[in-house]
Amino acid sequence: MDPNAPCPVHFLTPAGPVLVQASAEDTVVRAAARAGLVIPTQCRHGFCATCEVQVQTGPQRRALRACVELVEPGMAVILTHC
Ligand code: FES
Repeated sequence: MDPNAPCPVHFLTPAGPVLVQASAEDTVVRAAARAGLVIPTQCRHGFCATCEVQVQTGPQRRALRACVELVEPGMAVILTHC
């Protein structure tokens, strides 16, 4: 994948959906920050799970650590605290 290619990511927040044009090299935390959304972090190395969020991909939902996981095109990230 071209690291400079735009990568649309949906953030589902209590205030409504937010579409972010992220970069394929963005972590989920960084993509959220592009839209002014804050995902709490602590270690930023994938150890503590402070940044864990739920992601919907088709019918499946899974948890990931947003500080280390890169965005995927069409990803829907569920934020319960923003
Ligand atoms: S901030 Fe610790 S796992 Fe992401």
